[in-house]
Parts: sequence; C-alpha cells; structure tokens
Amino acid sequence: MSLVTIDHSTCRRDGMCSEVCPQGLFEVDGEGFPAFRAGADRHCIACGHCVAVCPQGAVSHEALPMEDAHLIDHTLAVPMPALNQLLRSRRSVREFREDPVPQALVGELIDAARWAPSAVNRQPVHWLMIQTPAEVRRLAGQVIDYLRQINTLEPRYASFIEQWEQGKDPILRNAPHLAVIHAQGDWIWSSVDSTIALTQFELAAVAQGIGTCWAGFLMRAANGHPPLREALGIPADHSVFGALMYGFPRYRYHRVPPRLEARIEWR
Ligand SMILES: Cc1cc2nc3c(=O)[nH]c(=O)nc-3n(C[C@H](O)[C@H](O)[C@H](O)COP(=O)(O)O)c2cc1C
Repeated sequence: MSLVTIDHSTCRRDGMCSEVCPQGLFEVDGEGFPAFRAGADRHCIACGHCVAVCPQGAVSHEALPMEDAHLIDHTLAVPMPALNQLLRSRRSVREFREDPVPQALVGELIDAARWAPSAVNRQPVHWLMIQTPAEVRRLAGQVIDYLRQINTLEPRYASFIEQWEQGKDPILRNAPHLAVIHAQGDWIWSSVDSTIALTQFELAAVAQGIGTCWAGFLMRAANGHPPLREALGIPADHSVFGALMYGFPRYRYHRVPPRLEARIEWR
C-alpha cells in the first residue's frame, strides 16, 4: 500500500497534486490519474502539499489524516495594514509585569510556531519552557558566572556583572518566563529552523498581548558554559539555538520609531 493514494471517484485529473509536490513523486497513470511513484514513500517529506492543494479532497496521505487537515477559511486572510502594524509594533520588551502568562496561552503560541517552515520539513525544534521567575533568575545568575569567566578575555561585560551585583538583572530582565529552543546540533539547518520557529512564536505573542525579548547572552552561555547547559538539561546531541524571555509587558508603546532604509540591489 502506497503512502499516498488518490480517490479516483473524486479526482478531476487536474494534476495539481503532482505539480506542487516538492519532490516530484507523482506520475500519471494510463487513465490520466496522478499516482504516487513506486518507491516514492521513502522520498516523501510529508509536507502535505498534495493533500492541501486538492479542492476535491481526493488525495489521502497515510501520515497526514484528512480529519487533521483543517480547511482554510480564506475570508480570514490578514489585511496588510494589520500585518504591517503587527510587524512594526513588535518590540523587545524588557520590563515585565509580575503576573504569570497562563500556560494555555503560551501553548497557543508554541502551536502557532509549529507551522513554521523547516528544511526538508524536518520540524527539528524542541521547546523548553521555564515557567517560574525563581528559575529564570537562577539561570540568569549562571549566565553572569559565565560572563565573569569570559570577561577576563573579553573585558566588556563588567557593567553587566556590576548591575547584577547591585541586584538588577541585565540578562533576563526579571522576566517571569523563558522559552529555550534546542535541536540536534549536527543538523545543518537546526539554527535557521529554530530562528524561524521562535520568530513565529514571537509574532504570535504580539497578537496575544505578550511581550518577548531575545535572550542573546543566555543563548551564548547555554552552549559555552557547561553548568548552564546542565541546569537546562539539554540532551548531549542537541545545541541551544534560541531563547526568548517573555511575560506581560509593563508598558505599552505608542510609536514606531524609524529604522534604516532597506539596502537593496534590484537587478
Ligand atoms: C539574536 C538576538 C539577541 C538578542 N539578545 C538580547 C539580549 O541578550 N538582551 C536584550 O536586552 N536584548 C537582546 N536582543 C534585542 C535587540 O537588542 C533588539 O531586537 C534591537 O535593539 C531592536 O529593538 P526591537 O526588537 O525592540 O525592535 C537580541 C536580539 C536578537 C535578534
């Protein structure tokens, strides 16, 4: 039995499933119906394009049950002005309220990120969600330990260490929560895929009134400072590819300051 089958009673033989298959795994049978090639199963990346494009619902994919392939409501398309404002009004939030973000709401953001593109549809990311402020603070302290070590070689972290010693948190900004994303370290696309997924999480957060900020220092320390890596519990064959502090923003922004003009070469 093939991974992908075509219902001949509903298929219109328009060839769309075949055209959109990124792997070119379809052929046309003697009656003009698309057919999954013999041996194609092992090349299929389960992206679901064939299932998604067929207006008749005539394509079945064993790994992608039709009841889980929800219909797209084209009337819900996001108007460009709304999308533009969302993209332009996202800020790195560094001042958070103390009230926690409900786990169910964060679950929705992670869910939104599942639809991010990933190389060969591998979907490699793992989410580690640090939910308690005390644990976030403990991890920030470990980043400070790391900065103390590297400050002897790269003497530019003194002010961060000083702030920490004064009771401030210049690393994770007293955020109530932290999302850490990790993936297999030796997969060449882990870094790109993780960044895209976390960006999708970040934009969904804006839509839900949740503030985020990339945690660059923690990202660096997570791969360079074994005690932090251990505290996070990162599997031996994984690397940390992204981290975002998040929580409800204490302040609301009212303006979008200008950015650099895009550097473009049209050819
Ligand atoms: C990879 C990356 C790492 C970052 N690391 C930190 C960080 O450790 N601490 C911080 O306060 N902001 C961090 N930022 C936020 C940037 O400073 C911020 O995106 C930039 O100043 C633009 O401001 P905006 O995000 O509000 O538009 C990071 C951003 C990125 C993309």
